Amino acid sequence: MENEKRGKVLEITELGDPVLWERAQEVEDVTDPAVQALIDDLIETAYHANGVGIAAPQVGNRERAFIISSHPNARYPDAPGLEPTAIINPEIVSKSEETVKGWEGCLSIPGIRGLVPRAKTVRARYTTRDGKNEEKEFSDFVARVFQHELDHLDGVLFLDRVESTRDIVTEKEYAKLLESMEGENR
Ligand code: NI
Repeated sequence: MENEKRGKVLEITELGDPVLWERAQEVEDVTDPAVQALIDDLIETAYHANGVGIAAPQVGNRERAFIISSHPNARYPDAPGLEPTAIINPEIVSKSEETVKGWEGCLSIPGIRGLVPRAKTVRARYTTRDGKNEEKEFSDFVARVFQHELDHLDGVLFLDRVESTRDIVTEKEYAKLLESMEGENR
């Protein structure tokens, strides 16, 4: 399925907008044209903003839907390439005990990165945009994106997940960190 650019680029809500702290509501009918349009708009908005995922509250919508659109871009040069995937009414069935710390950003928190511990793998249930129930396992980068986006549906931001405020850095300092990591072991 190709991204046919059916959606519109929407304005992204930013830190301080109360919608980002609310719990989103279950989607009742995935086939509702408004839900289908929301998915198209999320795909287009994430693509336009170099995001690897975006959740409905980030465009001011209070429904339990997000998309994962992992692809290498300026903000995430090492992201794996995946078709944009809509995830509706998700729940995590199980997660690995093993957690991994990784750097995250958020389109709603521009200019900031945080080092966030997440489960390395998650097994999740969700509805697709065609209304099918899926159960799938995600690991590593995609598992991280999944957990980050699911948090958005529960009003949780990555800033709530860092272990220390010193694990929060600006993009400028993050770029320096990446350079020094490349020098060491990448
Ligand atoms: Ni985010």
